Amino acid sequence: GKYRVISTKPMPGTRWIRLLTDQDCRVEICTEKKTILSVEDILALLGDKCDGVIGQLTEDWGEVLFSALRRAGGTAFSNMAVGYNNVDVNAAAKYGVAVGNTPGVLTETTAELAASLSLAASRRIVEADQFMRAGLYDGWLPHLFVGNLLKGQTVGVIGAGRIGSAYARMMIEGFKMNLIYYDLYQATRLEKFVTAYGQFLKASGEQPVTWKRAATMEDVLREADVISLHPVLDKTTYHLINKDRLSIMKKDAILVNCSRGPVIDEAALVEHLKVNPMFRVGLDVFEDEPHMKPGLAEMKNAIVVPHIASASKWTREGMATLAALNVLGKIKGYPVWSDPNRIEVFLDENSPPPA
Ligand code: GLV
Ligand code: GLV
Repeated sequence: GKYRVISTKPMPGTRWIRLLTDQDCRVEICTEKKTILSVEDILALLGDKCDGVIGQLTEDWGEVLFSALRRAGGTAFSNMAVGYNNVDVNAAAKYGVAVGNTPGVLTETTAELAASLSLAASRRIVEADQFMRAGLYDGWLPHLFVGNLLKGQTVGVIGAGRIGSAYARMMIEGFKMNLIYYDLYQATRLEKFVTAYGQFLKASGEQPVTWKRAATMEDVLREADVISLHPVLDKTTYHLINKDRLSIMKKDAILVNCSRGPVIDEAALVEHLKVNPMFRVGLDVFEDEPHMKPGLAEMKNAIVVPHIASASKWTREGMATLAALNVLGKIKGYPVWSDPNRIEVFLDENSPPPA
């Protein structure tokens, strides 16, 4: 191969490898056993010739790595993720490295995990499973693991982009919840869906569902029974959910986070869970990933999973393929993307541009 492309991790499927090798690229896959590669590890991988890199969200792609990639002759980097808070896009631009991400293929998979966590929290599935396995079940009781009925309750979505909107649809269509959402941009298609679905329910003699675009995020927090967070992580969304905002939520609300850990002040969340036993959370991401803040693991009203929201086979293979296409497109100069310094569209039409 004429071009040297590095993937910092083995990725699912083989299509992505074939795409690259069929088009003059030699693919090198790092097989280092430690999970998180440091900047030094990656510098060693780059060497003195590298045309493009497929990297992971656990890596810190900033000034050091982009300048090194440029020195090695590289012009292309793709995160194998839709989120790119681990990437300093200004540093990449400074060194003429195009950056891509992998939106689209993970929308439904991620929304399905957020829906799973919502249901698991509302019906206390993990607690109940642990109770069974501990041999504690000694007969049916009217009070055993009573949870919430979603039907007719309100689902709150903060960040109604692709994933937030897909999640909202699942909860509305599946469980006939009403919607309240907060986003800087209007989620027109989602609003149209809820309106049409509400009319359909009414015509079938059922209670229609309703939607509301909240003027402030606080309105969502106050009114919703189940709240799912889908913002981009940046300076404006760091600790978006803090002590004060937790305090205005319903005492028996459910909070789900499949976006990025630092969107929640996790220490404040642990305190909130301690004093509000009916408040429940489903978390896929953590502030100091892979670690949890002290106390979280002991909370029965928290469900925690290890950043697996995009983990379906179809999606992970799709993410690998998209990441490979991003890098290949830049290396080969395919006229697919309008902005030469940006391989993929970073944000969907419903989200603000990066600062
Ligand atoms: C995963 O968290 C992603 O951003 O794709
Ligand atoms: C009832 O199931 C309870 O333990 O809260």
